[in-house]
Amino acid sequence: MKICFITSECEPFVKTGGLADVCGSLPFALTMLGCEVKIFLPFYDVIDTQKYGLKPVKGIEDVKVNIGEKIVNFSLFTCRLNDSYIDVFFIDCPEYFHRKKIYTNDKDEDERFILFQNAVLISLQNLKWIPEIIHCNDWQTALIPAYLKKNFYGEDMFQKTASVFSIHNIAYQGLFDKSSFEKTNFPAEDFQPMGPFELNDLFCFLKAGISYSDIVTTVSPTYAKEIQTKEYGAGLEGVLVSVEDKLFGILNGIHDEIWNPRTDNLIFMKYCESCFEKKVENKEELLKKTKLEFKKNTPLLGIVSRFAWQKGFELFEPIIKDLLLKNIQIIVLGEGESRYEKFFKKISEAYPEKIATFIEYNNKLAHQITAASDIFLMPSKYEPCGLNQMYSLKYGAVPIVRKTGGLADTVRDVDEYGETGNGFTFEDFNSRCFYNTLLRALDYYKDKEKWRKIVKVGMNEDFSWNKSARKYIEIYEKAFEKVK
Ligand code: ADP
Ligand code: GLC
Repeated sequence: MKICFITSECEPFVKTGGLADVCGSLPFALTMLGCEVKIFLPFYDVIDTQKYGLKPVKGIEDVKVNIGEKIVNFSLFTCRLNDSYIDVFFIDCPEYFHRKKIYTNDKDEDERFILFQNAVLISLQNLKWIPEIIHCNDWQTALIPAYLKKNFYGEDMFQKTASVFSIHNIAYQGLFDKSSFEKTNFPAEDFQPMGPFELNDLFCFLKAGISYSDIVTTVSPTYAKEIQTKEYGAGLEGVLVSVEDKLFGILNGIHDEIWNPRTDNLIFMKYCESCFEKKVENKEELLKKTKLEFKKNTPLLGIVSRFAWQKGFELFEPIIKDLLLKNIQIIVLGEGESRYEKFFKKISEAYPEKIATFIEYNNKLAHQITAASDIFLMPSKYEPCGLNQMYSLKYGAVPIVRKTGGLADTVRDVDEYGETGNGFTFEDFNSRCFYNTLLRALDYYKDKEKWRKIVKVGMNEDFSWNKSARKYIEIYEKAFEKVK
């Protein structure tokens, strides 16, 4: 089966969050199961052309695309994904993709990804590569299912191509003024109140993806249910309920060559479940980078995250001082919304011997914190899947999470599940519940034998992509049935 993956970020080329991990690892698992996969990405200037050996694709240079009244040129570049047979294609359009950040609030944000999606379809035509499935991810790629269904590029080329649209986060919807619709080149009359492109009088990319794709997926079974409710649906719950029969939740996997303490070259000391005693050397070394003193029996609590509203960091504010009175240390790595950056910086300045904060994006440090921590914190308000709790489980850092989305599907509370529990969960989104759960975990930590058992269950979890990739193949087959 030929699968075309379209995404706005992909490891190792460019990453802001978990979407990049997924797009850089699921294609490998699919090729292992016999699929032919190609990936399309925008050619942002942060992508290291030399390192990855990007080369221009002959014959796809300075291709003109209409973006409403405007004519924009793009060219195509390509390279292989690591040592695989996966071709990665990059849509080069410096006018749009050479910016300070890969996602912007610039007034042409809509145009950037309209160009991207048009350019992908034009490139496929030029490459004469007709996939059975185009797998789109998030709003930046959500118009493609509509382009396909409306036979926009004609010539019947995509008649037997089905689209699968994956929602990694319902809160990012690609909402623009309705005047933006003209730039898509769809007929103006396609934009109708309550129609597939409209949400609250705005043009909504995400709604188009949900409406026109043959199958919609999201990244965990629990999130697939949650987004059909008012609390989690971000205004699209009604649309999602109406497509319930084509909506599936498939849990993300993890790339076990990249996130594996046995082989991880980024950490100070490799370890595994049967040589777990070596893990502590990671804590010792990491703490040297901070003002925190290494104390063997003081649990280190780790956080690695985008600082976004979704992640629930406001839960710390009312409890942080009480928490810091306990026998614990905290290490935080994150960047994003300034209120959270300021909060963690300030508290680290006030309690330098208890908490250290790194405000940056740093992949190596992310691995080192995961390896060093005894406990990993993810009190998310919502979490479509979440990868960090799976990484922490594999690294023997016991997760404390809010029971939502993918966190609910991967972390089992020891008080509820007994011997098969792998972490600690709380349901109500409030600081008191979070705090009580932290205290429960700290109590368990004091009993080394009990703790070791919890760690063991986590480290033995199977989060490899193989299982989920098989589910994607089933979904692809279902989608393909619809266009065959
Ligand atoms: P989300 O995609 O919502 O940010 P996920 O848990 O799915 O959440 O994935 C986050 C990914 O980004 C993980 O690979 C995590 O290690 C990485 N990450 C997040 N913040 C940072 C950071 N400040 N530095 C390095 N890596 C980070
Ligand atoms: C989104 C979600 C995260 C998920 C990731 C990959 O960024 O916030 O929960 O793990 O996408 O699917």
